[in-house]
Order: sequence, then C-alpha cells, then structure tokens
Amino acid sequence: MKKVTKAVIPCAGLGTRFLPITKSVAKEVLPIVDKPTIAYIIDECVSAGITDILIITNPYKKIIEDYFDINYELEKRLEEKNKKTELELLKTKNDNVNIYFLRQGEPLGSGHAVNLAKKFIGDEPFAVLYGDDLMKSKEPAIGQLIKVYEENDCNVIGCMEVDKNIVNRYGIIKLKNNTKDIAERLVEKPSIEDAPSNLAGLGRYILKPEIFNALDNVPKHENGEYYLTDGMEMLMKNEDFHVCNINAKYYDTGNKIGYIKANIDYALDRNELKEELKKYINDLNLN
Ligand code: UTP
Repeated sequence: MKKVTKAVIPCAGLGTRFLPITKSVAKEVLPIVDKPTIAYIIDECVSAGITDILIITNPYKKIIEDYFDINYELEKRLEEKNKKTELELLKTKNDNVNIYFLRQGEPLGSGHAVNLAKKFIGDEPFAVLYGDDLMKSKEPAIGQLIKVYEENDCNVIGCMEVDKNIVNRYGIIKLKNNTKDIAERLVEKPSIEDAPSNLAGLGRYILKPEIFNALDNVPKHENGEYYLTDGMEMLMKNEDFHVCNINAKYYDTGNKIGYIKANIDYALDRNELKEELKKYINDLNLN
C-alpha cells in the first residue's frame, strides 16, 4: 500500500460569506490569535507526516504565498536589535515540508481546484484539507484519516455528527446498509427533511488517484462550479469510502461566527492571554 505523503489545500474560493474583508484579504490568512488559519492546517499536515503540500490559490490571494516567504528586511532589522523571540516568530517556513502553489484561474469550484493537482499527485493516495476548515485536536485530524486509510486501503471521508437542524449546510453521508463506517452516498447540502443522516463530511479527505478520472467527468452545477463531492460520489460506485469520525473541535473559519469562536478558543489556550480574556468575558455579564 502506498503511503500518504502529499496534501492538496484548496484556497481559491471567493470567500463571499466573509465579505467585505475577503475583498482584499484571503480568508485563509485571517489570524486565529496571531497565526493565519492556513498555518495551523500546514502544522496539522506536518504532524501527520505529510511532506509535500500543494496550495491552490487564485490571482487575488498572493498574500498566502507571501506569508511563507522570507521577509529579509524585517529579519535584518530584528537581528540588528537582537530581538530573538520576534525573530523566532518570523520563521514561517517549516523545514519539514515542501510547499508549492498553483493558481486556479477562475473559481470553478472545489472539484475543479482539486483536479488541478493531478500532475502533482501522480499515482498516489493524497490528503485534501479545505483551507478554511480548522480542526483543534491532540492527534492531528488528517492523521486520524490516514490511520483509517492504512487499516483499510481505501478512500476516507472525515466527518462529524452535526445538529439535525443544520444538515443543509454540509455534505451529508448515507452509510451502506448494515455497516457503521462505509459510505454509500454523499449528498451535498440536502434539505433537513431529506437528509440521509446527520453525519457531515468536513473538509478532510484521503483520496486515491482514481478521483481525477471522476473529476474529469462531473457535471457543472448551475452556479458554474464543479464539486469535489460529486467526484467522490461517482467514485463511490466502484471504490470503498470509509468514514472517519474525527476526534477534534471543528471550526468553519470561512464563516464569521466560526472564525470568532476559533479565536476565543485558541486564545484561551494561550497562557499569556487566558486569564485576561476570561476576566473580560466574565465582566461582560452576559444574559
Ligand atoms: P468553500 O465553499 O468553503 O469556499 O469551499 P468559498 O467558495 O470561498 O466559500 P463562500 O464564497 O464563502 O461560500 C471549500 C474550499 O474549497 C476552496 C475554498 O477556498 C475552500 O477552502 N475552493 C472553492 C477553491 O479552491 N476553488 C473554488 O473555486 C471554490
């Protein structure tokens, strides 16, 4: 069985749920405390043993590439002032991973974005992590999916149970009869009445390279996009897709409330911020 060493992070979406800031700043670099969301996702990959990452960007998201560059001027000035702590914080390049960038010329959907990675991936299984889905956990979320892949030699969908009233926001999984962990269908944003379960696929996948054949053949939706989930549904007819119940706290940082929650939780994890933030929240005397 081939090992999973490569990941694709689609980051070329329009970010319309987070306007107006996303007019000029990519949502993937908005800070969770002091680090962009994308940096946490790269850390998750590195902790899971991934060595090569392709980030799909677009012409307006150069800021993502800039974050992983070296800022010589700032570095030099900090060195002159002997600011060692700040210099350490400036090192955003991780030596344990190679990061590559590819532009999606037009926002033609997550399926189109992943399909651009065909040459980069070649004939290997790979991880997909959505650039705005953040997973806070002890064991890296994508590492949990890789384990399921290694146990079963199969495609894997990262998922969590969500409240029945919000199933219409997610890709919802229908399990095969008499199985607890093999998907039969992945229904994109079903109505609350028609949803086959409350098990939602959440921006983490392990896919076999056969997905690219499927993505070449998925139909375009009315909104002009090709969906990754359509490709997965197509491939599901011939290949097993296991589900992996991710043990993590999930934040959709592409929407405002998810982003705010992530900032509060990550700040509460920081010793230098925790007490003051707790006091501030207590003093608000909510209710
Ligand atoms: P989303 O639906 O979360 O992102 O796509 P979006 O399109 O930016 O969302 P809106 O506009 O707020 O509704 C899931 C992932 O796929 C990427 C996004 O950047 C996100 O990480 N994506 C989406 C692409 O790379 N290209 C696309 O054409 C669409």
